Amino acid sequence: MELMEAIRARKSYRNEFYNMPVPRSDLREILEAGLAAPSGCNLQTTQLIGVDDPVLVKRLAEIYGREWSATAPAAILVLTKETMSSSGVSYHVHDYSAAVENMLLAIAAKGYASVWIEGQIRGERAKEMGALLGVPEEYTVAVYLPVGVPAKSMAEAVKKPFSERAWLNGYQKELD
Ligand SMILES: Cc1cc2nc3c(=O)[nH]c(=O)nc-3n(C[C@H](O)[C@H](O)[C@H](O)COP(=O)(O)O)c2cc1C
Repeated sequence: MELMEAIRARKSYRNEFYNMPVPRSDLREILEAGLAAPSGCNLQTTQLIGVDDPVLVKRLAEIYGREWSATAPAAILVLTKETMSSSGVSYHVHDYSAAVENMLLAIAAKGYASVWIEGQIRGERAKEMGALLGVPEEYTVAVYLPVGVPAKSMAEAVKKPFSERAWLNGYQKELD
């Protein structure tokens, strides 16, 4: 799939998945896409765990607590840790955000679907997910991505019009 096509095809998917595995080669490439993302000062603060063991995938979905996610054949956990750069700023949130978007685009390009789940696992659920997979205490599970072939249609989030958010050669100068 061409890049702009994948960018347009990516949508948050929160529904059932087909009972079709995500081959290891695809899972690995999706993780590679995440690791290829830029990071502040190239500190590469993000770590990733791909999950395709059905018992673990189901358990993650149980911790998340939504029935549809239990139908996903695979999942990815995104780990982060605050890490000061030499300028005294930690870019860890930017780093994992770039990694997540790269993975979501790779997922879309391969015909799978997912959703960036962060707000709903923050705190206890994230801790439980990390404990399940042996994540060291100093790392936080920031994002959970269920991954699979979507069995239902993709819902389209309403986006503000282009002209309200993007301009050319000046603030609110219309691009036409
Ligand atoms: C930082 C961040 C946290 C998010 N957390 C959640 C979440 O916990 N659960 C969820 O269902 N979607 C979550 N989302 C997905 C957004 O709801 C979604 O991207 C937004 O509604 C726009 O829809 P779209 O992804 O289809 O363009 C999150 C997205 C971001 C960037």
